[in-house]
Amino acid sequence: MILGVGTDLANIERITRTLERFGDRFRNRVFTDVEQLKAERRADTAGTYAKRWAAKEACSKALGTGLRMGIAWKDMGVSNLSSGQPRMHLTGWAADRLIEMTPPGHEAIVHVTLTDDHPWAQAFVVIEACPVT
Ligand SMILES: CC(C)(COP(=O)(O)OP(=O)(O)OC[C@H]1O[C@@H](n2cnc3c(N)ncnc32)[C@H](O)[C@@H]1OP(=O)(O)O)[C@@H](O)C(=O)NCCC(=O)NCCS
Repeated sequence: MILGVGTDLANIERITRTLERFGDRFRNRVFTDVEQLKAERRADTAGTYAKRWAAKEACSKALGTGLRMGIAWKDMGVSNLSSGQPRMHLTGWAADRLIEMTPPGHEAIVHVTLTDDHPWAQAFVVIEACPVT
């Protein structure tokens, strides 16, 4: 069964300006080490961050919480399989929320898909519950 869906569209130009203005303060507050490694070694650094920003916003919608002040952004992180497919990793409050919304006898799977076409970056997140056999 589907427990939640979320989507977000992020403006890459806005992320570029935020990176220029706040630099490491922004990077370290919002993005995991894995996300920063991926973005910083790419030519399209801002686009890579923007997709991950969109993923965090989409994930918070799928979790039903939205983004509150003081939220730990790094508790929703994106990594990539060797095929390039993205995966969402939840820790801290986000992992707690996922457990809370998962019915007994089920495990939750968080699906994420990303795309960008300058100046836009987009993410969809679907949270699925599967019966544990
Ligand atoms: C997957 C693919 C269709 C992406 O299309 P694109 O138009 O270049 O890029 P988009 O902006 O639409 O999407 C990019 C995102 O697709 C996702 N993606 C990449 N590979 C994927 C895959 N195998 N399955 C699902 N999603 C994938 C990633 O999240 C990527 O963003 P990120 O690298 O910042 O995480 C394209 O890269 C492709 O066909 N790849 C073939 C497999 C390949 O070359 N793999 C290389 C590693 S072995």
